[in-house]
Amino acid sequence: MATRDSDVFDSLGRGLSSLGTWIDDRFPMTKTIKEHATEYYAAKNFNLWYGFGVLALFVLVLQIVTGIFLTMNYKPSAEDAFASVEYIMRDVDWGWLIRYLHSTGASAFFIVVYLHMFRGLMYGSYKKPRELVWLIGMVIYVCLMAEAFFGYLLPWGNMSYWGAQVIVSLFGALPVIGEPLAEWIRGDFYISDITLNRFFAFHVIAVPLMLVLLVVVHIMALHEVGSGNPDGIEIKEHKNERGVPVDGVPFHPYHTSKDLVIIIVFLILFSAVVFFAPEMGGYFLEHANFEPANALQTPEHIAPVWYFTPFYAILRAVPDKLLGVTLMGLAVLLPFFLPWLDRCRVKSIRYRSWVYKAALAVFTISFIALGWLGLQPATGIYPMLSLIFAILYFAFFLLMPFYTRYEKTKPVPTRVTR
Ligand code: HEM
Repeated sequence: MATRDSDVFDSLGRGLSSLGTWIDDRFPMTKTIKEHATEYYAAKNFNLWYGFGVLALFVLVLQIVTGIFLTMNYKPSAEDAFASVEYIMRDVDWGWLIRYLHSTGASAFFIVVYLHMFRGLMYGSYKKPRELVWLIGMVIYVCLMAEAFFGYLLPWGNMSYWGAQVIVSLFGALPVIGEPLAEWIRGDFYISDITLNRFFAFHVIAVPLMLVLLVVVHIMALHEVGSGNPDGIEIKEHKNERGVPVDGVPFHPYHTSKDLVIIIVFLILFSAVVFFAPEMGGYFLEHANFEPANALQTPEHIAPVWYFTPFYAILRAVPDKLLGVTLMGLAVLLPFFLPWLDRCRVKSIRYRSWVYKAALAVFTISFIALGWLGLQPATGIYPMLSLIFAILYFAFFLLMPFYTRYEKTKPVPTRVTR
């Protein structure tokens, strides 16, 4: 007699279930899935801003996978690097796609992470009890900057070369240890094959490994305290008789299904850039990088990729090199202290005063303006404008303890709203 389909599925189901039990006896598989997905309760009122963490995770995986395939044909030597990238673009099957996914992915990573961080500023995600989640996030951000910086040297284009030259020589501005430090980083007196080799090692294994570990720790820390929400209230404070937060829903399937939609929409936008404007008019892949590195000829106008330009503008806003480097370092460091700089008890911007809303608006405009200014030549009115916006950028953080202390906030609801 022929076996019915349902019999096949029944025995398949029984097989999988006993495999599950076998694994569970040896490894906490079901326990982990429950703790972090099916029985992890997150607020039911997540909005789009809460989707950027998952997108960052998605782009991280994309970068690692495309990076592995690029490494299969890339040659990390000053002699061959540029030509090997051309070879990937022209001769390797689908090489052009892999490279454009990776180069566009780098910019997408920063767009997504900047929006993820901005969510934190809007909804006070850095406040108690999520200070550590924020701090780990900031370490991730610094690692991401290092990862992008190391990666940018690899194609060995002329902007790769001179960009690295400018940034590494900044360390030379530090008193006493400056020059030896810059030399130690380069491994040579100038950016050379030796520098390229070590940047390759950092870009391909050391920093990605740290990033993956940090992201795991970031999410573990988040799940320990529980996710926030756009109302800025703690859903754990209202539980039903089963101990389940009444304003929460299981992360899987409720949030995973929404996240899937967000990923699909992201992929549509991302593909539009990859297929129709991978260089993004020179913002994602700079024009000067289509020429091989040339130690004897600087590009007409050296500028880092857009995601570094707000800090580059701060560096150039003051004429003194050491002061510029110090201010640039401070600009990256200040957000680490947000959990302690912000004295307002109310988390969400929905219930905060106009003072904080205005401060956040000015900060956002300054950051974008600095980003634009960092792409312009340091001539005419631009340095002056950079200085003004740099002052506003620092004021947002340094004056925060004062303007947030006596904020007139609105009453915060006890249960989540929309
Ligand atoms: C590779 C980079 C990153 C990945 C993959 C990542 C991943 C995630 C994920 C999946 C979540 C939970 C979902 C969400 O709330 O969006 C999250 C939450 C969070 N992330 Fe990140 N993150 C990254 C970088 C950062 C950075 C740079 C910061 C800030 C400096 C940050 C701060 C936070 C905070 C404060 C939360 C908790 C938000 C809340 O629940 O209210 N993350 N992150």
